[in-house]
Amino acid sequence: MATTFTPRVFSGIQPSGGLTLGNYLGAIKRFVDMQADEFETIYCMVDLHAITVWQDPADLRRNTRELCAGFIASGIDPEQSVLFNQSQVPEHTQLGWIFNTVARMGWLNRMTQFKDKAGKNRENSSVGLFAYPALMAADILIYHATHVPVGEDQKQHVELTRDIAAKFNHDYGVDFFPVTEPVIEGAATRVMSLRDGSKKMSKSDASDMSRINMTDDADAIAQKIRKARTDPDALPSEVEGLKDRPEARNLVNIFAAMDDRSVEAVLADVGGKQFSEFKPMLADLAVAKLSPISTEMARLMEHPDEIDKILDRGATRAREIASPILKKTYEIVGMVGS
Ligand code: TRP
Repeated sequence: MATTFTPRVFSGIQPSGGLTLGNYLGAIKRFVDMQADEFETIYCMVDLHAITVWQDPADLRRNTRELCAGFIASGIDPEQSVLFNQSQVPEHTQLGWIFNTVARMGWLNRMTQFKDKAGKNRENSSVGLFAYPALMAADILIYHATHVPVGEDQKQHVELTRDIAAKFNHDYGVDFFPVTEPVIEGAATRVMSLRDGSKKMSKSDASDMSRINMTDDADAIAQKIRKARTDPDALPSEVEGLKDRPEARNLVNIFAAMDDRSVEAVLADVGGKQFSEFKPMLADLAVAKLSPISTEMARLMEHPDEIDKILDRGATRAREIASPILKKTYEIVGMVGS
């Protein structure tokens, strides 16, 4: 008989750079919304994943705290959700090792994120970068998480997580790990660069004008939107009219996601307007939604010791869930000891 699992959400973000609007709309905002549902919610700063490519230690420390501040300022309640950084819960790496023995070389070889990140220089990429998806599977399955909200680019990794769970269950003749669902939805799941609608908004893009940082103040936000690349046409009234207009689509997606409306509903209002009229509307909305968050982040960042306390407490709560699952896994695998 199939086991029923507690509805539980897990997701993670790498503390490998500053937070952007892409992280907020594509991930954090949805994490906040899921707190209100029937799920237990567990959110993690995946520092062990971040170091699969070089991170300066001082930057890693600051980025981890800034990410935590970003979560809280955006509305993640550290009492309601379990909020912690991965390295402080050793069960992730312990289960990750078991999964290194379950995952096949061929499976990992097919991962597009590895191919992208390693580029032409595969021989020189870290072993950790290659094994990254097995650790990600452990992040999820050490909590028996049933739902994982992620962006489109992480879908392949969640599918691999399902394959690992299924192979483990099959090989050991158990029904122990759940087959996790990726949760991919929302107009702005993929927020694109403000300079090039075909590229993802990225914290590593050379141009700061290509992205809105969660630490940008109201003036910077408004200026970046005013200067965002567009085409010369007016906005369409129907979604089909955004076809082959990546910049227009991106700005409308951002507007819809921030206003909690569908793209259809937004276009019904703004269809026919020129960008000269739409951009100030978008800038006002973005400033209204984001500047309270950046102000609160700045306030929290003045108290790093409080952030660290929140993370410590989150790690303790996470271990309470993870540790019995690891213990049971060890038993299943045949490891002796208590
Ligand atoms: N790989 C994810 C990313 O780069 C981050 C991540 C690590 C993650 N572990 C996870 C996301 C577990 C969801 C669940 O965005």
